[in-house]
Amino acid sequence: MDCFEMEGGRPLEGEVAASGSKNATLPLMAMSLLLDGESHFTPVPDLRDIDTMEGLLGELGVEVQREGEDARLQVRSETVTEAPYDIVRRMRASICVLGPLLARRGSARVPLPGGCVFGLRPVDLHVRGLRALGAQIEQENGFLVAEAPKDGLQGASIDLHSAFGSTVLGTVNVMAAACLAQGESVIRSAAREPEVVEVARFLRACGAKIEGEGTDRIQVQGVDRLKGQSWRVPADRIEAGTLLLAGAITRGRIRVSRCQPAELKVLLHALGEIGLEPRVEGDAIGLDATQGATGSLDLETSPYPGFPTDLQAQWMALATQLPGQTRIRERIYPERFMHVPELQRLGAKLERAGDTTLVYGGSRLTGAPVLASDLRASACLVMAGLVAHGRTLVRRVYHLDRGYAALEKKLNHLGAVVQRMPDPDKP
Ligand code: EPU
Repeated sequence: MDCFEMEGGRPLEGEVAASGSKNATLPLMAMSLLLDGESHFTPVPDLRDIDTMEGLLGELGVEVQREGEDARLQVRSETVTEAPYDIVRRMRASICVLGPLLARRGSARVPLPGGCVFGLRPVDLHVRGLRALGAQIEQENGFLVAEAPKDGLQGASIDLHSAFGSTVLGTVNVMAAACLAQGESVIRSAAREPEVVEVARFLRACGAKIEGEGTDRIQVQGVDRLKGQSWRVPADRIEAGTLLLAGAITRGRIRVSRCQPAELKVLLHALGEIGLEPRVEGDAIGLDATQGATGSLDLETSPYPGFPTDLQAQWMALATQLPGQTRIRERIYPERFMHVPELQRLGAKLERAGDTTLVYGGSRLTGAPVLASDLRASACLVMAGLVAHGRTLVRRVYHLDRGYAALEKKLNHLGAVVQRMPDPDKP
């Protein structure tokens, strides 16, 4: 098992390009189950989660050929409709094969993905949406067992509203299934995240009749067939945001290129509020943090276009270095605070109460061994390690490898000192 050994204290300097988006690529790949012919995606990031999706689709009869940043996918056999538990338990995004399998093959057995380290992650909205299209869905032996009516799924009016807003992959699942249903579907309280928009645009290029993506009302007119296409994967907005925050915490001067600044508006605004003025230059964002931030900013996570839960942990790392206090409320996953005790080990002063953590700024962090517990928590610990005095050992970086392509290389390119090595203690 690998860990990162880091020497903190170096301002990041230079330019780095964002990779292709994990959270767009995963559902895009799953859409191959709906399609006739080959699809081609690029640039596909080199990530463990992408490998997992490749393995899952392989089990479901999809031939996946990857070469560098290119992935070609084509269905070779449609006989298997069961997703293996061993793969699904590794990655919750596996759930997005449910809608496509049901719509195209008429049935699906997908294990309930279960909870995850940051709390409950139910799939009731996925089930509600697919049932509205006429599917029978029961839970049996830990699996969701779904069956479409004999004459196929039927278009319907569906409301995906939940106390948290909506559901990203739930919207994708229902939208995908509705593409091959008969007649019209209207999805209300649809998620507006850019990844949903990307999947909708891709499916439209494949022949789907979808309107309204990016709003909370998506309309789908069912069609008989969809045909695979070549598609350019957008940049990873969370990776780009993480890199900018790494520049900010180290008081560096960096430029993140090949990203979509419009998708990071809320982060750029937040950075502006604390006195750092990011500059948008076409598809790049420049940040000069050498003078340091002048203030702090309380924030709450919320669905797009609000502040993303996937950048909450990284903002917390930054907040430990800001002047004043920061109150961070996690409204999407109220338990997503596993980074709190690990940041405390590095010297951060934090008080957590329920879904809110109060961060006391201006902390002097000192290096220590810390345990990464999930993807974004790992990124937060790496950011803290960039400014902690002395040596920080971030263990279990396999979490990081799920969603950041060669992060240590990108950081080292910007002047950080991060070494990947086998964990001496293998915790
Ligand atoms: N929810 C329900 N019922 C459902 C589905 C979701 O109550 O049936 C709740 C969840 O518990 C949560 C909220 O709705 O409180 C939002 O969850 P959502 O379904 O939108 O999450 P997701 O689609 O499973 C994607 C990303 C996550 C990201 C969330 C929120 C992928 C592969 N995953 O998950 O990304 O945090 O949206 O934006 O796209 C990550 O990349 O680190 C990551 C966890």
